[in-house]
Amino acid sequence: MNFTNSEKLFERSKKIVPGGVHSPVRGFRGVGGTPVFIESAKGVRLKDADGNEYIDFCLSWGPLLFGHQDMEIGEAVKSALSRGWSYGAAERYSLEFAEDMIKALPFMDEVRFVSSGTEAVMSALRVARGFTKRDLILKFDGCYHGHVDSLLVRAGSGLAEMASPDSAGVSTNTAAETLVCPLDDDQALEAIFAQHGSKIAAAIIEPLPANNGLLIQRNEFLKKVAELCKKHGSVLILDEVISGFRVALGGMAELTGISPDLVTYGKIIGGGFPVGAYGGKREIMDMVAPVGPVYQAGTLSANPVAMTAGHAMLKKIMRENPYADLAATGKWFVNELQTLADQAPNFSMNMQSFGSISWMVCSPKGKKSPLVRDIAHIPAEQKAIYAQIFHGFLNQGVYFAPSGFEVGFLSTAHTKSDLEFVLEKAKIVFNGVKPV
Ligand SMILES: Cc1ncc(COP(=O)(O)O)c(C=O)c1O
Repeated sequence: MNFTNSEKLFERSKKIVPGGVHSPVRGFRGVGGTPVFIESAKGVRLKDADGNEYIDFCLSWGPLLFGHQDMEIGEAVKSALSRGWSYGAAERYSLEFAEDMIKALPFMDEVRFVSSGTEAVMSALRVARGFTKRDLILKFDGCYHGHVDSLLVRAGSGLAEMASPDSAGVSTNTAAETLVCPLDDDQALEAIFAQHGSKIAAAIIEPLPANNGLLIQRNEFLKKVAELCKKHGSVLILDEVISGFRVALGGMAELTGISPDLVTYGKIIGGGFPVGAYGGKREIMDMVAPVGPVYQAGTLSANPVAMTAGHAMLKKIMRENPYADLAATGKWFVNELQTLADQAPNFSMNMQSFGSISWMVCSPKGKKSPLVRDIAHIPAEQKAIYAQIFHGFLNQGVYFAPSGFEVGFLSTAHTKSDLEFVLEKAKIVFNGVKPV
């Protein structure tokens, strides 16, 4: 494959944009090489600046449940554009969207739209602090919640310790207001609540952690988080920016039966446009301005074009209920990939998947990793082996996420023949992986 035009664009971009990209993982640092510059996308196909085509499993990092340029969403957006694209005033489009959302989500009494998942999380934390009049936040090591200062932290040394900054620019004081618990560790969780429970404003968790690979949690662990929040008067925030509308209409809350106090959304809820949302119990949401004392605002919040796109997405989801079909296709595809990987000469792989989300856990031949539920058990060779798999697929016209710690997504637009094409290519790719 020829990447000349992408290489030239990347050189230009690097001169004026940090790392040449506007969000770090797009820069291919996790896999090496030059990012391909995408010119257009339709269905499951991406086309780059050199005319190369790829079957896409990144899908803009999850939002595109129905693939690129879904007709219904496209038509809705076109008609929204004809009515103007920003009012900064009350309008009916977000209202109708919110009404349908609340009808679909039994745990949500009220919702506020924002413009990204990060903004949704940041706002939910503020509301939880305002509601409880407490300062501490509990997060789980390996979960990502956007680039909110207080959540860009990692565990300190020792159990139940205050966090340390995980990004330059996050102050130690900010980090010190966050506690970090390992995933899948009931004892650590209990110890943290025993020591700090009365000061914890909120516990925030991705109920299906999908930002450090796919770290599927035991239901009992998630239920324990919910129980301990209840017992200690802490707000339970389920961050369903990835899992919301992806694994079920009601996300993991629906599948686990856990009723969050607050929930955060992004990605699918915007249908590919910049939308985030947070919502939940009325008594908590009534803290938000202009009703309550917690300030949160946005010039482009509930932008009518983005609202129309998100609403069209939601209406299509409610009508088609695509989850059983997606899960069945996902299971078949993952099993086929697993069988092929088992025959590879130089590495072992364990496909971890949940519905339409999957992750390739890579280790040296013969050291196949058991189910990974926390970051401590991700094989040390993950990055090096995945980088080879990624480039192998890219050169065969298949685009997986450019990082071994990101997941792959299926859409309803992936056909059996698309997936069979990928499986054919997988034989070549897996055979070509060299020992690390
Ligand atoms: C679980 C989760 N929360 C929050 C965010 C932040 O969302 P955004 O990138 O829209 O700010 C992400 C983004 O990947 C996410 O996966």
